[in-house]
Amino acid sequence: MTDTIDNQYNNPQIVAGFEALGHGREKGSIGRFAREFITTNYNGAPRETAVILGVGTGWEIDLVSHLGFNKIVGFDPGEGMLNKAKALVQERKYQNVELFDGSHIDEMNKHFAGKADLVIGTHVIPALETRELLIAHFRDYQKFLTDHGRAVAITNNPSDQFHGYDTYSCHYDGKRQKDGMRVRTILNDVKLGAKEITIGGERYTSGGKSLMVVDTFWSEETIRESIREAGVKLTGTILIDLDNENEARNLLNVDQAKVPSEALYSPYVAFILRKTQG
Ligand SMILES: C[S@@+](CC[C@H](N)C(=O)[O-])C[C@H]1O[C@@H](n2cnc3c(N)ncnc32)[C@H](O)[C@@H]1O
Repeated sequence: MTDTIDNQYNNPQIVAGFEALGHGREKGSIGRFAREFITTNYNGAPRETAVILGVGTGWEIDLVSHLGFNKIVGFDPGEGMLNKAKALVQERKYQNVELFDGSHIDEMNKHFAGKADLVIGTHVIPALETRELLIAHFRDYQKFLTDHGRAVAITNNPSDQFHGYDTYSCHYDGKRQKDGMRVRTILNDVKLGAKEITIGGERYTSGGKSLMVVDTFWSEETIRESIREAGVKLTGTILIDLDNENEARNLLNVDQAKVPSEALYSPYVAFILRKTQG
C-alpha cells in the first residue's frame, strides 16, 4: 500500500495539494464548507480532539485550530506529504498538533482511538486504489470517533459528469498540472456520463512531461458499500457548491465557453459519518 502512495505523493515534484487548498491556506469551497459544517454542527458540542486523516498539505490543521479544537492529530502514510504538514506546524508554531506516519499507527491508535470529536479526511478516497484500502479508511473513522463525534469524508462527486478534472488543479513546483504534466486517471468502477470530454483509462494535459498523478474514482455505490462494510454509520451526503464561477473555471482545463454555470456544477461531495455504537 505504502509503495503506491509513496510513488504518487512522495515525489518531491508532486504536491497533491489542490488549487483551492494551497499550502496553509483555508480558501476555496471545501474550506468554506468544512468551516460551515463545523460551526453549525459543533455549536455547544465538544471540540476537544480532531483527527485529520491524510493530513497531507496540512490546511485542515489551520482550519480546525481556528475553530477551537484543543488537540489536533494528523495521520498520513506518505512521508513527503507528512513533511509538508510538519513544516506547516513548525511555521505556525502549533504546540497542540501530533502527526503520525504509517509506521506509528499503533501509537496513534493507543492514544487516540475513541477520542476524536471530529474526524476529517479530504481527498483521501481517490488515493485509495483498492476496495480493501477504502474499507480500511472508513474503519479509521469508526475507530477514532467518540460516541457523539462526527466525521466528514470529502471526495470527488461520483456522479459528476466532469469527473477527473479535479486532478488538473494539482500543483507541482508552484505550477499547475495543466502546464504540461501528464495526468492519469484510473476509472475504477465509476460509470461516466461525460458529454464535453472523452474519458478513457488515461488522460493527458498538454503533453510533454512524464510525471503522473494517479487518482482512483469510486462510484457512490462502492463508497456506500465500503462505509457499510467498515461498520461506520452514514448519516447523509452533502454536495459542496463551488464558491464562484472563477473557481469552476479554474478547475476545468477545457474550453471556457463549455464550462457550465457554477450552479450546475458540484465537483465535491461530503459523506457525513457517525460512530456505530457497539
Ligand atoms: C490528495 S491528498 C489530500 C491531502 C490533504 N487532505 C488536502 O486536502 O490537501 C491525499 C492524501 O491522502 C494520503 N493517504 C493515502 N492513503 C491514505 C490512507 N490509507 N489513510 C490516510 N491518508 C492516506 C496521501 O498520502 C495524501 O497525502
